[in-house]
Amino acid sequence: MTTQLKLLTGKREAGIVPTLEVTRLSKVFKTGEGPVTVLRDLDFTVGKGEFICVLGPSGCGKTTLLNLLAGFEKPSAGKALLNGRPIQGPGPDRCVVFQEDTLFPWLTVEENIAFGVNGVPKKEKQEKVLHFLDLVGLTPFQDYLPREISGGMKKRVSLARVLILQPQILLMDEPFGALDAQAREEMQDLLLSLWNQFHHTIVFITHDIDEAVALADRVLLMQKDPGAIAEETRVRLPRPRERTAASFQDYCKALYQSIKKPR
Ligand SMILES: Nc1ncnc2c1ncn2[C@@H]1O[C@H](COP(=O)(O)OP(=O)(O)O)[C@@H](O)[C@H]1O
Ligand SMILES: [Mg+2]
Repeated sequence: MTTQLKLLTGKREAGIVPTLEVTRLSKVFKTGEGPVTVLRDLDFTVGKGEFICVLGPSGCGKTTLLNLLAGFEKPSAGKALLNGRPIQGPGPDRCVVFQEDTLFPWLTVEENIAFGVNGVPKKEKQEKVLHFLDLVGLTPFQDYLPREISGGMKKRVSLARVLILQPQILLMDEPFGALDAQAREEMQDLLLSLWNQFHHTIVFITHDIDEAVALADRVLLMQKDPGAIAEETRVRLPRPRERTAASFQDYCKALYQSIKKPR
């Protein structure tokens, strides 16, 4: 079957056309002590506009998976297709948000957001930047340097500077992991509201069960040694999700039990 045909017929999930198709994806690193299989035979699809959380313990290979999807690393076996084409390197269709700050310390908030926007007339660029500053609630801080704003605000800048590039897929590696609980929740809510507006596809990595239940359409649970997808959970909770609701906590408990399950 051609990939095109498969896209139309074979791999639909709940009526969603897959944008990302990962098939038997494996990654082996060569180390001083010999080859180490970090990921083995990952199989999953992500539908267009879907919000996926990859949940797993530290060291299970989440960042390695994200690096493969971003095109920063090459698979040892298997493949990852984006819209039917193999991912062979980084591309403008994918943007990555890391846990660490990657803002330019010498540029203002506004200049950081504007940095990657090229090929548009100056006026249009300026309007776009102001719009994205407003979307993430940073208009009053546009002239501040990164060292003059809080961790949560830096995350807002990081989000704005990738969203302004209008990527098809947002790859996020524990982006809110270093924030305090309140700032993390605010960022989760902001991300959901932006996702509602832009409908981009999101692969969001986390080791936080509550975060996964708050955000995801589907949670892919990873196990380690070697990293693999152990289970998949569709979160059938309406949005906005009430974190204290019994139904929310039921999902958290079920995921917790799955993580603890001996494999
Ligand atoms: N370039 C590399 N060479 C060798 N081992 C690596 C390399 N990158 C990651 N690893 C190993 O792969 C495992 C998974 O790492 P990582 O993907 O960072 O996990 P996670 O993000 O889930 O914490 C770890 O044991 C790590 O030491
Ligand atoms: Mg990691």
